[in-house]
Amino acid sequence: MAIVRFFRGALLLGVAESEPDEPLVETAERAGVDIPTNCTSGNCGTCLVRLKEGSMEYPDPLPPGLDEFLIEDSGVLACSMSAETPCDIDVIPPL
Ligand code: FES
Repeated sequence: MAIVRFFRGALLLGVAESEPDEPLVETAERAGVDIPTNCTSGNCGTCLVRLKEGSMEYPDPLPPGLDEFLIEDSGVLACSMSAETPCDIDVIPPL
């Protein structure tokens, strides 16, 4: 379990404790933060957010909604990734 804080820029939107292997989007829901989703299976990229601090479990192989460039920009797919450590998440997607 890890504390996850959700931000929009500098604004703190909510905080929740993640369950093991819980998709980030569900942790966000418990924090009262709505992350838009579409496919919920790592394909479309709708749920893309940015990891500011901490570490996430990256799926191997990478799902179609994520690539090396997005990862370099701290991109995280909230529907199919979970927090490994305490994390700060920016719900603004990488540019
Ligand atoms: S909702 Fe489609 S990749 Fe997450």
